[in-house]
Amino acid sequence: MAAKKKPAKAKAKPKAEASKKIEIPEGYFGEFGGRFVSDLLIPALDELSAAWKKFSNDKKFQKELLGLYNDYAGRPSLLTYAANLSQRYQAQIYLKREDLLHTGSHKINNTLGQALLAQKMKKKRIIAETGAGQHGVATATAAALMKIPAHVYMGSEDLRRQALNGFRMRLLGATVSGVGGEHGTLRDAVNEALRDWAKNVDDTYYLIGSAIGPHPYPTMVRTLQSVIGREARQQILKAEGRLPQAVFSCVGGGSNALGMFYGFLKDTKVQLIGAEAGGRALTPGNHSASLTAGKPGVLQGAMTYIIQTPDGQVQDVHSISAGLDYPGVGPEHAYLLKQGRTEYVAVRDKAALEAFQELAQEEGIIPALESAHAVAAAKNYIADLRKQGKKNPLILICLSGRGDKDVQEVERLLALPQEPELPEDAPAAPQFNTVPTVKVVAAGE
Ligand SMILES: Cc1ncc(COP(=O)(O)O)c(C=O)c1O
Repeated sequence: MAAKKKPAKAKAKPKAEASKKIEIPEGYFGEFGGRFVSDLLIPALDELSAAWKKFSNDKKFQKELLGLYNDYAGRPSLLTYAANLSQRYQAQIYLKREDLLHTGSHKINNTLGQALLAQKMKKKRIIAETGAGQHGVATATAAALMKIPAHVYMGSEDLRRQALNGFRMRLLGATVSGVGGEHGTLRDAVNEALRDWAKNVDDTYYLIGSAIGPHPYPTMVRTLQSVIGREARQQILKAEGRLPQAVFSCVGGGSNALGMFYGFLKDTKVQLIGAEAGGRALTPGNHSASLTAGKPGVLQGAMTYIIQTPDGQVQDVHSISAGLDYPGVGPEHAYLLKQGRTEYVAVRDKAALEAFQELAQEEGIIPALESAHAVAAAKNYIADLRKQGKKNPLILICLSGRGDKDVQEVERLLALPQEPELPEDAPAAPQFNTVPTVKVVAAGE
């Protein structure tokens, strides 16, 4: 009998190569993130990175910011047990109440931090983009507090849907420009703000409202929002003595979700689920679910998941909620998805509208339409578990904002004849906008 051939040993790698670490440049999350902007903005981004590094590690700055969070914004925000909803769905459902903060949403966590940074950097002017108007209001508020003039860009369609927030910003002393023509939304507002910044970088601070854009914004905004998850983890441990099975947040640019998820990132048994806007259907022009239905590409300064046409043009998107109506998402979400640490589901407009009304009627809490997406996703998750015979899961939902800004739009929508639900292969919605060109200039620091 012939002797069995020994399996060939895998060749050892040359030592130098084996020990060589793959370096990921700062400002990248794996292959996502970076700085894909005009040359003009690189010095400003460098200046911002240096200032953020300096002040975010400075005890005095941290103390000042904590003081603003606690004594001005109303932190820590409550954790509320949703007793009626829990009974209805045979689950234990907790709500992290960012809706109770000053100005009505989590956006204030970020704007107080960045406006304080702008003050330390001695900037003379703050500019911002806004979708639902919550970030614009939070920026106008923080800018008023720091005595720095603010200019906010908002898509014209969003200004119509969120007229109250447009007026609130003006009341707070900010100037507001409607941009992007009749159908202008958040993407147009970001483009316009970037254009303004490129022209006025010396004295202007661009206060981005989500964990999007070029480095260092995604890291900075996530860090400022991570107070949500830190508090929520402590609060649920205190209330229940254990961690939740799953945590839900809505995802527009992704800042409230990253803030919430960061508290639980190392608790690998906790499922982290982002609710994107599934809109009318998951066909082009009908949704804004970048992670569920998009592909990697470059948008507004970062490599991330974007909703695009087959030839790589940015697609028009749709959501019932202005704050989720965006064709991209923060690059760190793309990375976490690829790592398998987070999951994302697309929630239809109709389901969000139902959850909006249900939370109001069951718990006496009117959520933002954005946050209603997270509630709807949690309901689906609990229903799926029940089908598998699993009952009473412990669920945590981030209620990113309150619904005052949405009541008029919801009233209008409810008065319309109910459209039949579109099938998944519904035809694409007509397209309106053209695409901004982006230029690759530098990759992180
Ligand atoms: C209440 C509320 N929740 C969520 C969002 C989505 O933003 P992000 O994904 O950055 O949390 C917005 C955006 O305007 C908002 O106003």
